[in-house]
Amino acid sequence: MPVPPFSAFEPFLSEDEIQAKVAELGAAIAADMSDSENVVVVCVLKGAVVFMADLIRHLPQNVTCDFLRLSSYHGGTRSSGTVRFDFDLTQPIEDKDVLIVEDIVDTGLTMSFLLEALQARHPRSIKLCTLLHKPSRQVKEVPLAYVGFTIPDRFVIGYGLDLEGKYRNMRYIAALPEQTEELLAKVDE
Ligand code: IMP
Ligand code: MG
Repeated sequence: MPVPPFSAFEPFLSEDEIQAKVAELGAAIAADMSDSENVVVVCVLKGAVVFMADLIRHLPQNVTCDFLRLSSYHGGTRSSGTVRFDFDLTQPIEDKDVLIVEDIVDTGLTMSFLLEALQARHPRSIKLCTLLHKPSRQVKEVPLAYVGFTIPDRFVIGYGLDLEGKYRNMRYIAALPEQTEELLAKVDE
């Protein structure tokens, strides 16, 4: 089935709003990490890749980057609740200062799983940075050091966030119209 073009979606967060927020988050993170020599920025693929790419360009030159992939979703717009590693970091994080970069914290199940898994590797510190937070759907509380935008319970796409793999390359974030969400929820059941 052909998907609607980007132009079918009104911005919920515009490109300018997102870029201003990324710069603000980057400045706050850079100030907080100024005494650390060993920062590993961890991108949670795939959703956080666009955010991470923009964010690291506001961070000091000594940071390193790594990637991991988790899955908690099997298509559709609602989390299945089970989380596993699809692939893992390429380096040990013992004694490192870890900054996890995530696109969105929804129920919190993915991030609480990841925090626990990475904490067991004895990093010096771990902080979480998420571009978006949907507190109304929280099941597990996770400590969020940096939050871009707190948003209502709507399914959002663009700027890394996908709908069945599509729309990650849209420059702004759109909220799906509610009828679409209901339709997709039915498909997912
Ligand atoms: P959580 O485990 O429920 O917090 O879900 C986190 C993951 O679900 C995120 O990393 C996203 O991949 C995905 N997700 C949750 N809400 C949305 C949304 O509104 N749009 C796109 N992906 C979402
Ligand atoms: Mg994600």
